[in-house]
Parts: sequence; C-alpha cells; structure tokens
Amino acid sequence: MDERLLKAARDVRANAYAPYSVYRVGAAILGADGKVYTGCNVENVSYGLTMCAERSALAQMVAAGCQEIQEVVVVTADGGTPCGMCRQSLLEFAPVPSNVWVICANEDGDTDSYRLSELCPAPFQSDIKK
Ligand code: THU
Repeated sequence: MDERLLKAARDVRANAYAPYSVYRVGAAILGADGKVYTGCNVENVSYGLTMCAERSALAQMVAAGCQEIQEVVVVTADGGTPCGMCRQSLLEFAPVPSNVWVICANEDGDTDSYRLSELCPAPFQSDIKK
C-alpha cells in the first residue's frame, strides 16, 4: 500500500459530512499520474442525494485530468468495503481491475486488501463507449 493514501484518506475523513448516518468515510485514490485524489461522504437531508467518498474522490481525479486509477484506500470506523455503486464507478477507470488494489482500513489502522476484480466480479459492461 502507498502510505500516502492511508494518511490522505484518514485526513479527508475528518471533513465527512455525515450528520444522518454518523458513518464517516474517507477515500484516497492513487491516479495513474502518480497524484493522490481524495473524497469524503457528503450526506443530504434528502438521504438519496448522498455522495459517497469513493465517487467524490473519483470526480476529483477526473476533474484534474486523470482517467485511470492505480490503488484505492477507504477509511471507515469498521473497515467497511465500498458499496456496489462505488465498485462499478471505480471499474470505469480501471482498465485491468485485477491490478487495482482496494484497501479498506478501520480506525485502528487494520486493513483488508481486495483486488477490484474480486469486489465486482460481474460488472455491467457494454461496448457503446464512443
Ligand atoms: N458511504 C460511502 O461514502 N461509501 C460507500 O461505499 C458506502 C457508504 C457513505 C454513504 C453514507 O453517507 C454513509 O456512508 C452511510 O451509508
């Protein structure tokens, strides 16, 4: 694991806006450009409008001009894994999903590591990209 990612995910988690669930999530992505992109969850009183930390970090990466992920670290209280929507979203920017490690850390720094391909083994795919 790139140690920069764990620190970045921990740091950004402090900015999570999670007054409804009180479940704070910080995510850090290492882009193919070698830069670190971060995001936290941003909840809304209309619960369904909530933005997850992982997709927030992805948006930062794409906005900066990078379209490929190398590695992801997610920090939560209990080391939870990314939701299905975030798994599919991460896949969009992972040309070889088995090469992308997703590391889930809890508050004590314990980690579980998964290949993105095992977290999302049968994703939606199509060949309609222009
Ligand atoms: N959440 C994330 O940020 N990422 C995930 O992959 C799953 C869930 C957030 C959404 C909500 O703010 C809180 O965690 C509880 O579901």
